[in-house]
Amino acid sequence: MNKTYSVGIAGLGTVGTGFVNQILKFKSNSQKIANIKISKIAVKNIRKKRNIKLSNLPITTNTLSLAKDKNIDIVIELIGGSSGVAYKLIRESLKNKKHVITANKALLAVHGNELAQIAEKNNVSLNYEAAVAGGIPIVKAVRENLRYNNIYKIYGILNGTCNYILTKMENDKGDFKDILKDAQNKGFAEIDPSFDINGIDAAHKIVILSSLAFNVKLDFKSTFIEGISKIDSADFKYARELGYTIRLIAMASISKNSVQQRVHPCFIKKSSDVAKVVDETNAIIVQDKSIGKNIFQGPGAGSGPTGASVLSDLMDILRGTRNLPLGTAISKKLKAKIDNIEDLSFSYYLRIKAKDKPGVLAKISKALSSQKISIESIIQNPPVQTQNAEIILVLHKTKESMLLSAIKKIRKIKDVGSSVKFIRIENSI
Ligand code: HSE
Repeated sequence: MNKTYSVGIAGLGTVGTGFVNQILKFKSNSQKIANIKISKIAVKNIRKKRNIKLSNLPITTNTLSLAKDKNIDIVIELIGGSSGVAYKLIRESLKNKKHVITANKALLAVHGNELAQIAEKNNVSLNYEAAVAGGIPIVKAVRENLRYNNIYKIYGILNGTCNYILTKMENDKGDFKDILKDAQNKGFAEIDPSFDINGIDAAHKIVILSSLAFNVKLDFKSTFIEGISKIDSADFKYARELGYTIRLIAMASISKNSVQQRVHPCFIKKSSDVAKVVDETNAIIVQDKSIGKNIFQGPGAGSGPTGASVLSDLMDILRGTRNLPLGTAISKKLKAKIDNIEDLSFSYYLRIKAKDKPGVLAKISKALSSQKISIESIIQNPPVQTQNAEIILVLHKTKESMLLSAIKKIRKIKDVGSSVKFIRIENSI
């Protein structure tokens, strides 16, 4: 580590300030990373309030100048967003043979195949440990170790904001909007929190893990994504009665001919590993044919953990450790056939609002049996003040397309309201 590397940093938000503060702390406490020089820090708005003093830092507002600057060896992109300036900066930097570090999962999930190919061609690093599960070193664990063990399933909790909201709701600690505000104040949520709530952020991350684990190309477009906005406290109450809780699960698995990539809320058993993961904590479970099951758990968001992962990527470059960005050359990665969610089978929780009249339940069960769906258990809540009752059904495993056909029929029953909600049950995790 004798050469002095010159670093350009773009973006001084949650991740950027976490990273720069760590570097400054290291530099003032020891000589550990004395062979780096921060040449430029690009910010969009100099006046923005930040948890760092800008006065002694080499600030610029010309972000793209980092890609062209001949003195910069390593560009660290911490702006975010799947297109725009972040994309241009990374593409140009790699083309100009600069090493790149990014925390940008959205950009990698959408443009990662192209960017990895440019990095490969120019023999430079494209490191992104902070992009998946914040401080948990899951990218390196999968890319450099576990993938040789025939991974067949990788899943878990990859969005801290959603887990924070769901576990607070689970314990009746406020309503959705207030808890989300809290997560935003704590710096977990994305600038546009709909990326968290709608499952998109977790999908970006599972797509990256799927590509690393199964040696397939990144394919974000074919991934099934459903968020948590339809979950309410009554769902938690019913889940509890049935021995379950609710989490947003990101899942990737491989079978002989195809790959599953999906993100959606799930009923999971209270005793499951992921049910014990609370607040903004992330957890990833890797199952493989050689060593069985590995569980990774830790802080998945926030300034400190993500900043630490960026720092570990930087140390890899300083040490001269080079890895192909996606583990294998892009030309050797396969294009996977991603399963359509409607072709998959699950058990289901079904919540139906209906008039409290004789015969309604019989009609619902007729609609279900017309699609060969059988009922495992029923909870019927007596109506309070209104004539509407709530019928909760747990359904045996059935193909999703069959369930959707049955729901269409149920919605046509005269005494059933339009509110027919279902949540998939994952009994195997
Ligand atoms: N918004 C993300 C989360 C930040 O809540 O997990 C970390 O990627």
